[in-house]
Amino acid sequence: MKVLAIESSCDETAVAVANLNNGKVVIEKNLIASSAEMHVKYGGIIPEIAAREQLSSIIPLLKEVGVKEDNIDKIVVTFGPGLMGSLLIGTETAKALAWVWRKDVEGINHMIGHVAANWIVDNPEDKVPNFPCLALVVSGGHTDFLWIESKNEWSWIGGTRDDAAGEAYDKGARLLGLPYPGGVAIEKISAQATRKVKKLPRPMLNEGGLEMSFSGLKAALAKEINNTETVDKAAWAKEYNEAIVEVLVKKTELAINKKKPASFLLCGGVAANSLLRENLKHTAETLGVDFFVPKFSYCTDNAAMIAAAGLIFEDKSERDFKSPNPSLENY
Ligand code: KG4
Ligand code: ZN
Repeated sequence: MKVLAIESSCDETAVAVANLNNGKVVIEKNLIASSAEMHVKYGGIIPEIAAREQLSSIIPLLKEVGVKEDNIDKIVVTFGPGLMGSLLIGTETAKALAWVWRKDVEGINHMIGHVAANWIVDNPEDKVPNFPCLALVVSGGHTDFLWIESKNEWSWIGGTRDDAAGEAYDKGARLLGLPYPGGVAIEKISAQATRKVKKLPRPMLNEGGLEMSFSGLKAALAKEINNTETVDKAAWAKEYNEAIVEVLVKKTELAINKKKPASFLLCGGVAANSLLRENLKHTAETLGVDFFVPKFSYCTDNAAMIAAAGLIFEDKSERDFKSPNPSLENY
């Protein structure tokens, strides 16, 4: 089974070709065009700019990937959650191509795409997760725990009640005068910290459930740095990073103890964070659970992960996520 995948839910336009070998996903091509640089000067994504860039990138990317109708079996495309204008570029392109080529087209939930990135292997002997899996999806729009019983049964079991962790990084970075994407900037400057600053709160850390909250954290940071004449950016970035990571690690520990999965999967753009990766690996392995995280390039948005979801999961639906999605029903 070979698939062509398209992803355009946020500021990236991505196309990939992948196949399934022995239950593992092998990527043949993986192309990406990002408009992230255009958003740097605004400190965040402007949806209209993202969609216009996607419109001009999608056809050149498809030409570059160079697939022909007789060497793919189906087309898969992210159909939500994401920015509506951006999603439409991918879904309409996929539908048009599928119609011309007379192929099946399948909508993929973006979050299941992030999870599925853990089935991508570089070598045939690389390990892939065993079910049941607990996944922590941490991205710019989501911070969710998913319980994945099997390839056709998954459910949402907890997550943030307000801002996503990635959003907290982006907003915190903006407060500190650091560039977008904030997670990358915060992590980078943290390494230069030479002193400790006042401890920021760890929201909902000691509340028993799997709920989290990150919106108060940026308010706490704003309060601290607005009262300071010269802000030690590196020291505050380090403290802010540690606060977010500590909450994610403690909640994961709770989720693992509660659900007892065979594998724990970390994924989403924030999974590129080294402190988070190291601490969660340690936590999972201490609790006797296999730890998986995609390699860096498959953590942030890409189409390889959407291909992987199309090859691995039977339930890729929008269920449990309340975001707009352009329907594929009339295809
Ligand atoms: O998954 P993703 O590429 O897009 C969404 O689906 O949202 O995630 C983007 C998010 C941004 O908020 C960005 O600040 C964050 O991932 N991010 C990081 C790091 N790299 C990207 N957060 C923390 N540490 C990083 N190294
Ligand atoms: Zn994403």
